[in-house]
Amino acid sequence: MAEKQANMNQLVLIKANELDISQKKVGVEEQELIKEAGIMAQLDHSHLTKLFGICLAEGITIVAPLRPLGSLENYLKKNHNSLEPKELLLYCYQIASAMEYLVSRHIIHRDLAARNVLVKKREHVEVTDFGLSAVLHQNLILPLKMPYRWVAMELLGQPRDKALYSEATDVWSFGITCWEILTFARIPYEGVRLDGPNVLASLHTYLKNGSRLIRPVNCSLELYQTLLLCWAPNPITRHNFKVLRQQFETYKEDPHKYVTTQQNICVIETIIDEDIGKVLYEKLEKSGSDEIPKINEETRLSM
Ligand SMILES: Nc1ncnc2c1ncn2[C@@H]1O[C@H](COP(=O)(O)OP(=O)(O)OP(=O)(O)O)[C@@H](O)[C@H]1O
Ligand SMILES: [Mg+2]
Repeated sequence: MAEKQANMNQLVLIKANELDISQKKVGVEEQELIKEAGIMAQLDHSHLTKLFGICLAEGITIVAPLRPLGSLENYLKKNHNSLEPKELLLYCYQIASAMEYLVSRHIIHRDLAARNVLVKKREHVEVTDFGLSAVLHQNLILPLKMPYRWVAMELLGQPRDKALYSEATDVWSFGITCWEILTFARIPYEGVRLDGPNVLASLHTYLKNGSRLIRPVNCSLELYQTLLLCWAPNPITRHNFKVLRQQFETYKEDPHKYVTTQQNICVIETIIDEDIGKVLYEKLEKSGSDEIPKINEETRLSM
C-alpha cells in the first residue's frame, strides 16, 4: 500500500502491486491488464470494493476507495469484545453474496481471506483484491508465496496447475474466511506442525488424511458442517456460492442459534470434533453430491 490522496469527493487508496516488480518481469501483457481492469471497473455490487482504475506507469498501481476501518482481519482482532453473532454471520453472508456475484461474472477471486475483506461500516463489509490476481499471477508461479492456509487442497497438491482454480477453490477459501470470522482472526492451522521447506506438501498430507480446522468454540454443529462442506476433498461435492449465500441468509436471521456470544464462550467445553469431518466426507463420498449427509448431536456423541 502506498499513500492516501483526496480527490474532489472521496478519499482513495493508491496501492502498489505487492509483487513490486515491473509488469515486463511479471510477463503480463499491458493490453490484457487494461482489458481485465476494464471488466473489473464495471463490476457493481455493494459488497465488492469498487475499482476506480489502474496505473501502469511504474509497475502496477491500483486505485480504490479508501476504507479507514481497514481490513476485516484487523477489525475482528480489535473489536472481538463487542462484535455479536449477528455481525459475524452478517459478514459471512455479505461475503457469500459478493462471491455469488463474481461467479455470475465468471471471475475467480483466488485470494479470498479476511485480510482481503474491507470494513466500510460496522455492518457493511466489502470483498477486495479480486480478479487482477488472475492476470498478475498467470506467468509467475511462486508456490512459496501461495497463501497456502487459504488455498484448496487440490492446489496444494498441484501448485503449478492453474487450471485447478475454480468457484470450488474460492469456496474452500470462503470456508477458511468464515472460520477466521468466527475465531476473531485466529491464524488457520496455527497449532499444526507444518514442515517449513515442504509446507505445501505437509499441509496437503494433513488435509488428505481428513483433518480440518477445528470447530470454533462459538460455532454450532450445523454451521460447522457448512464449513466442512466448503472443505470437502472432492471439489464437485462442495456447495456453490448460491447455496452458501442462501444458507447464511437463513443463519443471519437467527444468529444465536448458530453462534454463541463471546460472554458465553468460557462456559462451553472445548470442542474437539476431529472425526466429524472424516465421517462427513465418507458419507459424502458414498452418497454423491446430490444428497448432503447430516451429522447431528446424536451421531457426534456416538463417535
Ligand atoms: N481500500 C483500502 N482501504 C483501506 N485499507 C486498505 C485498502 N486496501 C487494502 N488495505 C489495507 O492494506 C493492507 C495491505 O493490503 P495488501 O492487499 O497489499 O496485502 P494483504 O491484503 O495483506 O495480502 P494479499 O492481498 O496479498 O493477500 C490490508 O491489510 C488492508 O488493511
Ligand atoms: Mg489484499
